[in-house]
Amino acid sequence: METRNLRNIAIIAHVDHGKTTLVDAMLKQSGTFRSNQQVVERVMDSNDLERERGITILSKNTSVHWQGTKINIIDTPGHADFGGEVERVLQMVNGVLLIVDSFEGPMPQTRFVLRKALELKLIPIVVINKIDRPDARPTEVVDEVLDLFIELGAEDNQLDFPVVYASARAGIAGLSSDALEDTLEPLFSVILDHIPAPVVDLEAPFQMLVTTLDYDDYVGKIVVGRIVRGTVHQNETITLIKRDESFERAKVGKVMVFEGLKRQDVAEASAGEIVALTGLTSANIGETVACALNPEALPVIEVDEPTLSMNFMVNTSPFAGREGNFVTSRKLRERLWKEIETNVSLRVEETDSADCFKVSGRGELHLSILIENMRREGYELQVSKPEVIYKMIDGVKCEPMEFLICDVQEKSLGAVMELLGKRKAEMANMTSLSETQLRVEFNIPARGLIGFRSEFLSETRGEGMMSHVFLGYEPFKGEIPGRTRGALIAFEEGETTTYGLYAAQERGNLFVDPGLHVYAGMIVGENNREQDIEVNVCKKKHLTNMRTSAADDALRLEKPKEMSLEQSLEFINDDEFVEITPKSVRLRKKFLD
Ligand code: GTP
Repeated sequence: METRNLRNIAIIAHVDHGKTTLVDAMLKQSGTFRSNQQVVERVMDSNDLERERGITILSKNTSVHWQGTKINIIDTPGHADFGGEVERVLQMVNGVLLIVDSFEGPMPQTRFVLRKALELKLIPIVVINKIDRPDARPTEVVDEVLDLFIELGAEDNQLDFPVVYASARAGIAGLSSDALEDTLEPLFSVILDHIPAPVVDLEAPFQMLVTTLDYDDYVGKIVVGRIVRGTVHQNETITLIKRDESFERAKVGKVMVFEGLKRQDVAEASAGEIVALTGLTSANIGETVACALNPEALPVIEVDEPTLSMNFMVNTSPFAGREGNFVTSRKLRERLWKEIETNVSLRVEETDSADCFKVSGRGELHLSILIENMRREGYELQVSKPEVIYKMIDGVKCEPMEFLICDVQEKSLGAVMELLGKRKAEMANMTSLSETQLRVEFNIPARGLIGFRSEFLSETRGEGMMSHVFLGYEPFKGEIPGRTRGALIAFEEGETTTYGLYAAQERGNLFVDPGLHVYAGMIVGENNREQDIEVNVCKKKHLTNMRTSAADDALRLEKPKEMSLEQSLEFINDDEFVEITPKSVRLRKKFLD
């Protein structure tokens, strides 16, 4: 049976192409906010970190009603580090809105998310957003999108995608770039006409795949998924089918559906709907919730393998516990084990030391978000430098590779190519975006990207743009010459000044206790040779947290948002201290082995 008055769609896009802005506008225009209600900017990104960084980390569910039809909308993360999340949430929908910036065109994450959507045979609608940009080039961008569909092997019905031109910011859309209407009506109409309603069997025994997990202080664990068939009722006894195919009886508490931005209690919900269930405390992602009497398992969801690992350690630095937050290994352990319940692409392993855990994730962003979330919760910890995870495939040592796109001014091209050459990147393609701007694509070992962003931004004077996605495993490409980078800081408390060197191979960062006065500067040197060490900037500043330190031009990065992503890994080497004179820095000893 077709659930005619229901549509399930996901919004997919490269970072910053305007997903959240578009969903906000759709919520507003469909009357989800009363006109006298103040709309919070970026309502979809509720997590603090997401608001600050302006990126979507966790997918969110919301819904709007348009002409009697409910449209469930899932906001998906745009970054490849959250690929597992993207793939899982796409299993709940029948169609996708692919949002592409009208100047930038398709970017790595566009390619990455679109590939997943096409593989799952979802019906796409292309939204060319930011049509108000003075440099918009909608016709070319539509051609580029079509080329990408063809390259990714889209099927005929997917190639026949409708195109909607929009300015999410202005809340306007149209079917041609020079005839926009005053509202998003054309977009809503295309969604209703083009995305199929879920076709389901309402009479069959209840079955649902656990797609995401959430917590709420009042109701505890919340299990979210789309009902594949049948109906689920409040307080119903169900069977939970675990990954190992064992069965477990459990009782559903509340059944909730998504209404606007809220979850609403209902007595029952049927196939096609996306629901949130409480009471299922032992359910995990990828497992099936089924009818008690006729339980049948759905295919288990595959989750992307981690490609990068770091050690998380109890902080033993001289500054630990200053704020009364000293963390024991037991607390650290509990926190990490709680994390893996909902953060499915993350792995946590014990090590030889009780104070140290090996944490593996999908990339630097994935791990740095966990680190920063933990810091905000008051965990003081030390982390090691990131290392990629190698794999033996057919007896050959293989390493994770990334597909990298750099947009640079022609004048910076030489320098960027040189940096990337050292990092074992191979150029795959080069096109011109304008008379002076080039787009260059590379295949590069994931190792080569560690710490690359800050060098790239400094080399392009903040004008370059780069992004990358995971490509797959390839045979090891050989050693990359080492580079040393560290942060030089001085803590001033009353009469006492303590100088410390926070050093790292490849990159460093400042995490500073609140209330301390700090001198900060980056140290960059080649292959640990003392004479190459230089301090780019050394400034006195009152820093309260990492974000203010990151905004310091000492780090020579332009966009605070990108910087905090790049800079949020910490490396501490607390045995090593430096002597500082106003214009130079001399290391007492080599600070890295
Ligand atoms: P992530 O959550 O990081 O994946 O980004 P997103 O795709 O949700 O993008 P978001 O909605 O945060 O928009 C990114 C930036 O583009 C913001 O500064 C928006 O104000 C801006 N923006 C969004 N839509 C438009 C538009 O139609 N025109 C213009 N000029 N800017 C827009």
